This record gives sequence, structure tokens and C-alpha cells, in this order.
Amino acid sequence: MKDETKFIHMGRPKAGLGTPVNREITRASTLLFEKAEDLYRADVRGYGRHGSAVHDDLAKIFIELERGAACEFAPSGLAACTLAIMACVKSGDHVLMTDNSYGPVRYFADTFLKQMGVTTTRFDPRIGAGISDLIQDNTTLIWLEAPGSLTFELHDLPAIAKAAKAKGVITAIDNTWSGGITLKPLTHGIDISVHAATKYFGGHSDVLFGAGICANEKLGKRVTASRKQIGHHTSPDDAYQILRGARSVYMRFAHAEASALSLATWLEGRDEVLEVLHPALTSHPDHDIWARDFTGGACLFGVVLKPVSEAKVLAFINALKLFGIGYSYGGFESLCIQCDPQLNRKVSAKFDGPLIRFACGLEDAGDLKADIEQALPRLK
Ligand SMILES: Cc1ncc(COP(=O)(O)O)c(C=O)c1O
Repeated sequence: MKDETKFIHMGRPKAGLGTPVNREITRASTLLFEKAEDLYRADVRGYGRHGSAVHDDLAKIFIELERGAACEFAPSGLAACTLAIMACVKSGDHVLMTDNSYGPVRYFADTFLKQMGVTTTRFDPRIGAGISDLIQDNTTLIWLEAPGSLTFELHDLPAIAKAAKAKGVITAIDNTWSGGITLKPLTHGIDISVHAATKYFGGHSDVLFGAGICANEKLGKRVTASRKQIGHHTSPDDAYQILRGARSVYMRFAHAEASALSLATWLEGRDEVLEVLHPALTSHPDHDIWARDFTGGACLFGVVLKPVSEAKVLAFINALKLFGIGYSYGGFESLCIQCDPQLNRKVSAKFDGPLIRFACGLEDAGDLKADIEQALPRLK
């Protein structure tokens, strides 16, 4: 059975006499017990912070999506990233972090991890098996993201996973771009896959939510322990919204994915454009890796414009009528941002022109194209 079919039927209450299709939301901090001796039982949920039936339903879906063994949630995608990292490091440890990881994750490493006595080395996302040379005696985690935020490089995941396993290092990936739909990192040997479910699963730009899925129970227990130590909690209402999003995520994803590829292909042929950063295009330097490891694209891609003043780039974005100006992606509405102000790489990504990013929503692709076309003269 395909995931899109499973996600309609999984994580729902059993039909009885007039049972609602969806699980009811249970809001609770205190959970009551009939008998005092049951309060400390390890096999039952003792307090609201540890989830609800809706969370359990949602966890099943993420575990299935990622072909994993355990799942934990966090109050945002960023919190899921930092939770996974904290589960894998202690003071004195060393993290290898891809240079193109989501900016706030790099910030977390440069500030919080540093304060806690954990050092980080950034590596070129295209390093492949060469990662082995960077692994130190105290390296406990390799942090990946594919394609990388803003610059869209891919990793050779099997090669990195093999090198990491040979030296007993955990690998974790931010899998937000693919939504777990077009990339299954755990099947390529990666240990933890993290999502900002805020994007496609939320789908409507109104919920922040994160998930971390582990390849095995042992690692899952470590992430659970960290979540309990930190005290992360996600509201049952938010979990419900993400679960509701999971029912239609495949259809919404496919629409936005197709629009993005069609716009990326068209933009590649435009005079104003130097390069389009979308791994499904044969011109992308990592296209072969994409063809080997991914089953599709996503809604998000970058465009390097021919050199032009910043004022003209801003005038172009301001002239768009259907693309909102704002962070994130995976919602029903299209977005566009100028990327250069947040492009601070240490060892990768230099472009010969301004970089912008499009996130396709659920509008008609022809309408989106017409909108970009009417704004392009602003670059002249
Ligand atoms: C790749 C990636 N990871 C993580 C996040 C963080 O997600 P959230 O906004 O839910 O904290 C984002 C948000 O844009 C993202 O693009």
C-alpha cells in the first residue's frame, strides 16, 4: 500500500457505534489515577507533558513515513533539530555540521553548544566519504541537511553514513525540504531524521511543530530522555493540526512540487537568470545523487540572478503579487525571499549574482509564472 493511502487510514479511532472519524483532542496537564499505587507505573502516561492519544497517532504516521523505529515531537522545527543534537552530545564532544544547515541551527551550535563545551566544525556539504578525515576521537554527531538551506547542495548520504558508522558516530539530518515524502534518509543509513512539520504537514502557515524520527529504539530512548529532561511539550491542538495535515499532505506536496519544477525549468531559460538551484534539474551539480536517492522534488528552489543591484532585486520581489514576502514554505500560499543577507557560509557556496528563493504554494502554476513574468522587467 502507498503511504498516501496508509496516511488516510492510520492513526484513527476504531469505528464503533457512531465513532468520530478523527481522534478527539484531549487537553490535560493532570492525569488522574484511581489507585495511588498506579501513579508511578512506567507503562502508563503519568502527566500531560508526555503526550496524548493524538500524539500517539501522529507518531505512528511519522515512524511509517520515515521507515523508523521511534519518534519524538518538539514545539517547532528548530526545537526538534536542537533536541536531536542535544540527545547526541555531552560536554567535551565534537559535532561535524554541514555548512549549509538551517541558519538558526548553526547559531545554536555557535552559541549554546559552545557554552556547553561542545565544539563544532563546519564541512562542505559535498564532502562525501572525505568526512572520515574530519572525524575526531571526540566526534559524536554528524549533522546534515539535504538539500541545504538556501543553497540546495546534496550530500552523498550512503557514503557519509558508512564513514560515520565505521567510527561509531551518529548521523542526523534535517529532512524538512523533502517532507520525508521524496527522501527517506533512514533507508540510506542515516540514524535520525528531523522535520519542521510546520511546513508541509502543517500546510497552512499557522502551526509550529517539529518531529525527530530515529532508526532504532535505542536512539529513540536517548531522544525521549532529552525531551523529558528539557521539558519540551507540544499541545494536543497543534498535534491534531499536524495529524489533519498528514491526511492530505501527499496531494498538496505533489501539486507544489510540480509547480516548483515547472517554474524552475522555465526560469532556467530566462535571460535574467544565471543559475537555478533545484536538484531535479539536470544542470544541478548534484543531480546524479538526487536521481539515485530521491523520488521527487519539493516546493522550494533557489534562483541566482545575473548581477544586478540589490535595489532592483528588491523591486522585483516587491512587484510580485501572488508571492508573499516571508520565511518558511510548505503552506498553501507561495512565497519569495531575497537570500543574500542570511548567506553566511564558512566553507561553501559562492555565487556570481544575487540569490532569491521561491516557495510554491497551491496556486495554479501558470498564474505563478505569469506573476513572475510581469515582475521580471524590474530587474532590467
Ligand atoms: C530546513 C529547515 N529546518 C528547520 C526549520 C525550522 O522550523 P520551524 O520554523 O518550525 O522552527 C526551518 C524553517 O524554515 C527550515 O527551513
